[in-house]
Amino acid sequence: MESILIQGATVVNEGQTKSVDVRIEGERITQVAQHIDPKEKDKLIDAKGLHLLPGLIDDQVHFREPGLTHKADIASESQAAIAGGITSFIEMPNTQPQTTSVQAMNEKFQLASGRAAANYSFMFGGTNDNLNEILNVDPTQVAGLKLFLGSSTGNMLVDQPEVLEKIFSSTNLVISVHCEDEQTIKENTAHYKSIYGEDIPVELHPLIRSEEACYLSSSQAIALAKKTGARLHVFHLSTAKETDLFDNSIPLEEKKITAEVCVHHLWFSDKDYADKQTRIKWNPAVKTQADQDGLWAALNDDRIDVLATDHAPHTLVEKQNPYTQAPSGGPLVQHALLALLTAAKNGKISLEKLVQKACHNPAILFDIKDRGFLRPGYYADMVLVDLQGKTHVTKANLLYKCQWSPFEGTVFDARIHSTFVNGTLAYADGKVLNVNAGKKLEFDR
Ligand code: DOR
Repeated sequence: MESILIQGATVVNEGQTKSVDVRIEGERITQVAQHIDPKEKDKLIDAKGLHLLPGLIDDQVHFREPGLTHKADIASESQAAIAGGITSFIEMPNTQPQTTSVQAMNEKFQLASGRAAANYSFMFGGTNDNLNEILNVDPTQVAGLKLFLGSSTGNMLVDQPEVLEKIFSSTNLVISVHCEDEQTIKENTAHYKSIYGEDIPVELHPLIRSEEACYLSSSQAIALAKKTGARLHVFHLSTAKETDLFDNSIPLEEKKITAEVCVHHLWFSDKDYADKQTRIKWNPAVKTQADQDGLWAALNDDRIDVLATDHAPHTLVEKQNPYTQAPSGGPLVQHALLALLTAAKNGKISLEKLVQKACHNPAILFDIKDRGFLRPGYYADMVLVDLQGKTHVTKANLLYKCQWSPFEGTVFDARIHSTFVNGTLAYADGKVLNVNAGKKLEFDR
């Protein structure tokens, strides 16, 4: 069995940062200790000066397969993910066909098998009329249930109150929700269309997909979860106001209602629309600096539990349409950790908190088996980062199929040195070395 000894890394794990050696044997970590004597068979990696983190677990990505593979696919985007230190991903159901039947779900697992550079699972999609399918889902096989309570790419809106109540009352799956009130958005869109036609300035996106739309929808979802006892996870908070709906008085393990924030809502603000245009058009919209500040505060004080990407690629040609036809979403997995490390260096978050929110907590929240921590017995999913290094984002070094990034031109204050997936050195020095080391995620449920 291959064995690797990583020596002298500064390990960030379980709330502590210290210099530790880590041994990997086969797919798993077998030892984590202050000093480990090398064995003859060990491949030695000198990691002095580098930080070692558990690989990130991204609980919200759109890899577009099947059906939308002109934008992205599981192979291309999972390679971009490991280049960015993300070693596991949970992919969303708004593909074509939508992942709203057990059969479609099984087909997706087939598609990923042997083609994923990172570990994978999927969310099952709820609709207005697939309750029976939802009840047929084996909770040990999928990450959770995704409901679009606001419409976005893929027309998956679930908007019938009696259906929602039935779903919330009858599933044990973690229900992850996209919250934006449809009626509010419709009215705001109609108002601005009456002024500008189809070519509404993108700066108005946060006034159309507004704070009110987000708050109303999140509050309703939370009220329904409280009424029914459902396990609710609210995806991609984008406003400071919504953060007050969440509790930080109990540990994550005991929470029935949790929240996620995504990197773009922590990095960009409405000031950036002038330069980036529809490249930063997301649903929910990037909002004000005060919102961004409020999201950081809620992440740091534990009202927000999980850091993720909502990686959602579209082609540049699609994005260059006028406002009403330009799809929302953009590619993020390759640069999310770099952005977060840069933010950490700027004092926005500690490295320990970053690791808690992006690595440990998704594993806890979704009961992911043996991942998310650097512990003996756990899979060796990890990323070595160089906090003295820099990364200049240019088109030439993008691994996304869509070949653009909202971060083009940015210089991050960190560099991904290498990424291990299930004990395999899968990415190093700017090159993907293994394209299929990913395994299906398992759940301890
Ligand atoms: O901006 C977004 N794009 N938000 C979503 O919820 C969906 C995503 C997509 O699939 O394009």
